[in-house]
Amino acid sequence: PRRRLLRPGVSTVVVAALVTGVGVVWSSASVLPGSFSMMNTDDVDYGGGPATMVMPGAPGSVDVTSLTGPLTGKPDDTFVLTAAKKQVTLSSGKVEEGAAFNNQIPGPQLTVHQGDLVQVTLVNKLPADGLTLHWHGLNVPNAEDGVAGVTQNAVAPGHSFTYRFRVVQTGSYWYHTHNDPASLVRAGLFGAFVVLPRMPIAQTTDITEMAHTWQGGDDPAFGTSDTLRRNVIASGTQVRLRLINTDNNPVGGAGRAQARNFGIAGTPYRVVAIDGNDINQPTQISGDRLLVAAGGRYDVTFTMPNSPVRLTDISVPGGGELFSPTGGGTVDPITAKAPVFDPARYGMPAPMPFTVDSNFNRRFTLVLDDHLGFYNGVWSQMPTINGESFPNIPMLVVHGGDLVEETIINRSHNNHPMHLHGHTALVLSVNGKPTTGSPWYTDTLDIEPGQTYQIGFLADNPGVWMDHCHNLDHSAAGMMTMLMYDNVSSPFLVGPNSGNTPD
Ligand code: C2O
Ligand code: CU
Repeated sequence: PRRRLLRPGVSTVVVAALVTGVGVVWSSASVLPGSFSMMNTDDVDYGGGPATMVMPGAPGSVDVTSLTGPLTGKPDDTFVLTAAKKQVTLSSGKVEEGAAFNNQIPGPQLTVHQGDLVQVTLVNKLPADGLTLHWHGLNVPNAEDGVAGVTQNAVAPGHSFTYRFRVVQTGSYWYHTHNDPASLVRAGLFGAFVVLPRMPIAQTTDITEMAHTWQGGDDPAFGTSDTLRRNVIASGTQVRLRLINTDNNPVGGAGRAQARNFGIAGTPYRVVAIDGNDINQPTQISGDRLLVAAGGRYDVTFTMPNSPVRLTDISVPGGGELFSPTGGGTVDPITAKAPVFDPARYGMPAPMPFTVDSNFNRRFTLVLDDHLGFYNGVWSQMPTINGESFPNIPMLVVHGGDLVEETIINRSHNNHPMHLHGHTALVLSVNGKPTTGSPWYTDTLDIEPGQTYQIGFLADNPGVWMDHCHNLDHSAAGMMTMLMYDNVSSPFLVGPNSGNTPD
């Protein structure tokens, strides 16, 4: 029998009306139990593959707590991130009640080298909230993934937890709490994680820009800068901008809800990496809007001209960054009228490990939609996957070594930036058309209303992994499921009495 559970905070009305496209249906609803396992083993989706599930505790079953990084060995990089409350002052003078790692907003950038053994200790000095650290986009071993109630218990105030993993990827990533992220990431508990290649890259000025919207939802900023910031860069300098979108909520821009619309004016540039993955032979472009999914990253490079360059979030035309050889000058920002950069047709093709024509062992379809219903006592639109909300969305079950396809169809009226933990996916097609440019690898893919994406990945990282919308308000409303390896189980619990709120 499938469990019908309501989420914490959901109104306890016994009967709620759900308006669907065809009319009104009445569904009865029960109250969420105090705690329960994220692993909804009663109701799974095998993606058309064999029913290979090994029940927890049965022979061959693996516990997530055993899937750690190297427990011994001297780390190449050691960091301590201490979380505490902080008053955040924006450049406009606005003051927010927030929280920070090491008293910095954003938290300190962790810069490491490919192949390093990294050790990070999280110390929680918040008065009341549990915390974790999730390494967004890094394919770490499952027990290091930092999802409260799935891969560990939230670290309670006064406690600490140490993560250890070897970094195999390169590029731009970020870390954030994965306990109550909808409010705590918003409050400031995030930072950049940059992996440099072992071979030193040519002398560049490397700048990380973390777009973030502060508390009220109307304060989009780069870090804490919500006004124009001027920077001096000598002409001829090679510049790399790492654009990271930490937002969990819609920001302006012509109905392009959750995606951040970045614009770079005053110079041609190249998009050299998406979600940390290098683009093959990126060509020079100019004037486009760059839609970076909530949680996603674009790296762009340019040679500093002898005139100003302007980076803006097009929803805040007066803000952003101005780079110029003197710090002075002006250049008009890119506006919402600019064409949108299309990663599906950018760069040059290169061999791909699989294509739309490959034989996938499992094929999953996720239809994103919304239903009207009571949420938190309020009649509102609730985002759904295949008509359901967590925990009623079947888990996607795979077997180690499977080649997996996901088709994601957005029938709703909102963008949904879908994020799969622990794996890097290859975009195979957009709206039925195979990609034609550089192979486009991603971990956070913005799906616009009406769009269909087909992605593929190799199931090569055993564990129980969240697959969710990175509009964290949507995932808090149940827009998440799990990618579960058939032999892995989690002993952790979620629910109001568990202390764990993964979404
Ligand atoms: Cu940025 Cu599930 O995380
Ligand atoms: Cu969403």
